[in-house]
Amino acid sequence: MARSAILNVMVQAAMKAGRSLSRDFGEVQNLQVSLKGPGDYVSQADRKAEEIIHAELSRARPAYSFLMEERGEIPGEDDQHRWIVDPLDGTTNFLHGLPIFSISIALERQGQLVAGVIYNPAMDELYTAERGGGAFMNDRRLRVAGRSKLSDAVIGTGVPHLGRGHHGSFLVEMRNVMAEVSGVRRLGSAALDLAYVAAGRMDGFWEEPLEPWDVAAGILLIREAGGFVSDKSGGQDMFDTGQVVAGNEAIHKALLKTLKRPVSAR
Ligand code: IPD
Ligand code: CA
Ligand code: CA
Repeated sequence: MARSAILNVMVQAAMKAGRSLSRDFGEVQNLQVSLKGPGDYVSQADRKAEEIIHAELSRARPAYSFLMEERGEIPGEDDQHRWIVDPLDGTTNFLHGLPIFSISIALERQGQLVAGVIYNPAMDELYTAERGGGAFMNDRRLRVAGRSKLSDAVIGTGVPHLGRGHHGSFLVEMRNVMAEVSGVRRLGSAALDLAYVAAGRMDGFWEEPLEPWDVAAGILLIREAGGFVSDKSGGQDMFDTGQVVAGNEAIHKALLKTLKRPVSAR
């Protein structure tokens, strides 16, 4: 599969940061048993991965702007191009030695998502997409799952935790969704959740609130795999609302409807 020059730059950056995260993940598993735990070590691993990605991308395209989770907004001379980066998505998993985490890099051109890469170093799975060029896992073309009924569907989500709001509204949504579907999963990396929807491993996904760096690459992957992504009102304001609902056409529609429902009596 031939990748464009820009996608190659993104893949190289993600794989280099992935090698760094993999080394640190090995160390985290050793630190797990110590009393202090690996907390500080993980923050360092996260920052190191972000530095690697920043260095690789700015070496290839010095003028482009950035939105990165740790460094925030970094304006460049070229404000028509913006990299959106989460150097480590699934930090809690990483910290606990759970091998479900990823690197997410997207490129926006004039506010439109044009390329995306999600890499899970622990499984060596590389997800890539370019606008109009399809979505791939390693070299395999991706297509969202074909199931059309919620009753057959496995749906991913994110569970709000300590320090986050939305606990009450999440429970209402979960109450409604769990009554309709074959299974609900909480993997702990929103970027991978979206990649798995693109790959047909999960039939749908919803979560709120998420940040642009959690979802930018995944949104493009799902679109390019023939799926649908929106905010909870069915619009395209995912970055501002922080809401993401995804699936194939039928599951996306059914999920949107279920999420709007008041608490079900069942
Ligand atoms: C988190 C993960 C998680 C989601 C959280 C995110 P982080 O990102 O994507 O799955 O539920 O809302 O903040 O903190 O691990 O980069
Ligand atoms: Ca994240
Ligand atoms: Ca992160």
